Amino acid sequence: MDRPKTVAPADGTLGVLLPGMGAVATTFIAGVSAVRRGLGLPIGSLSQMGTIRLGKRTDGITPRIKDFVPLASLDQLAFGGWDIFEDTAYDAAMRAGVLRPELLGKLQQDLTRIAPMSAVFDRHYVKRLDGPNVKKGANWRDLADQLADDIAAFKQRNGCARMVMIWCGSTEIHLAQSEVHQTLERFERGLGDRDPAIAPSMVYAYAAIKAGVPFANGAPNLTVDIPALLSFARDRGVPLVGKDFKTGQTLMKTIIAPGLKARMIGIRGWFSTNILGNRDGEVLDDPESFKTKEESKLSVLEQILQPEKYPELYEHLYHKVRINYYPPRGDDKEGWDNIDIFGWLGYPMQIKVDFLCKDSILAAPLVLDIALFLDLAARSGWRGIQEWMSFFFKSPMHAPGLYPEHDLFIQAMKLKNTLRFLMGEECITHLGNEYYD
Ligand SMILES: NC(=O)c1ccc[n+]([C@@H]2O[C@H](COP(=O)([O-])OP(=O)(O)OC[C@H]3O[C@@H](n4cnc5c(N)ncnc54)[C@H](O)[C@@H]3O)[C@@H](O)[C@H]2O)c1
Repeated sequence: MDRPKTVAPADGTLGVLLPGMGAVATTFIAGVSAVRRGLGLPIGSLSQMGTIRLGKRTDGITPRIKDFVPLASLDQLAFGGWDIFEDTAYDAAMRAGVLRPELLGKLQQDLTRIAPMSAVFDRHYVKRLDGPNVKKGANWRDLADQLADDIAAFKQRNGCARMVMIWCGSTEIHLAQSEVHQTLERFERGLGDRDPAIAPSMVYAYAAIKAGVPFANGAPNLTVDIPALLSFARDRGVPLVGKDFKTGQTLMKTIIAPGLKARMIGIRGWFSTNILGNRDGEVLDDPESFKTKEESKLSVLEQILQPEKYPELYEHLYHKVRINYYPPRGDDKEGWDNIDIFGWLGYPMQIKVDFLCKDSILAAPLVLDIALFLDLAARSGWRGIQEWMSFFFKSPMHAPGLYPEHDLFIQAMKLKNTLRFLMGEECITHLGNEYYD
């Protein structure tokens, strides 16, 4: 990733395209609309609330990130999306029940204008859902062409200078990489054959890349994590990032585990269970969709703790993750963690975490940051996997042969140093020797 000579300015409208207009997407759209109207603050958004230190600690230069790098402002965003249900963003947000009806009432005009385009969908990939707003097509290629028309029409309607696409659709069944995913040629043939190893999320991603639109994957689906689409994106100069928004329990894990490891505290077991009653919870109640999620959630500890390097501390770690669909809770997830740890001479201790969280409240600011930073990456001429954005994801995409970086604090440092690098500022190593010379 070279430093660009110049970063193109963030002029004009940035279209944010969202396949899946459910709880996360509508909480994001309504939230941006509320912030624009002065009805709330973008809490949880690094791009809006975060600062970045430049130079030495003694220099006292710490601008807001949004004032340091050229990002689109919230006023420049236009929203569109696809869903299998016909609800407008207002109806979908009311149904999701995340934001209070009084607030949504004040945003009704903005939200009612956003109606979902018909989706590329097949129940085979999301067993628990079915809806009427679905495109008909001879094969995946035909459906990808219809998405291309949607993207072009949205761009024209909203006068977009640029666009980004962020998958906020349901978690699809688990798919492993196979032959059809290996090259673009095989993949394009598979589109024509409606190959079952190609999931709808891949059709959206393909259409985005073809249209030169940066793509992010907010779910744990395979989607763009296949050689065919990775090479397609590089060839088309399109940035990609994913996958699976890092919220809730995994966010906690990537905060707590690095701390325990830094202090060389051993961990014998980590049992995580959740109750969740929203539509995402219902979809994840299907074992095939849960398998996709489980893989994403389990990989985190293994990488952070490095049991191969610290066998005495982590070799026997038993890690278990459960998600239980429990309708009465709606979007108010409760996540319990029981962590069996041990210290000096192996003496056991326990940590219990009971996180009463609101999933979509944690996810919405990530969608905003991802949209703005992906657009920044595109304007910087960066293409392919944007590993510096790992901060936002449970299963960060990474180059083959590299292990992903899960530690939230390393991720934060990496992100900020990338922004410093981009703007020609010195990266910060936190060495700090110079203050004592
Ligand atoms: N909320 C979180 O904290 C969080 C964290 C990490 C990942 N995620 C993932 O983000 C995604 C969205 O979560 P949510 O809580 O908004 O779920 P949701 O069920 O409220 O919304 C998903 C929407 O996607 C639609 N959909 C499914 N397949 C589609 C397709 N092929 N095309 C268009 N629309 C489609 C569904 O109809 C639904 O409205 C899920 O995959 C979830 O696992 C959420």
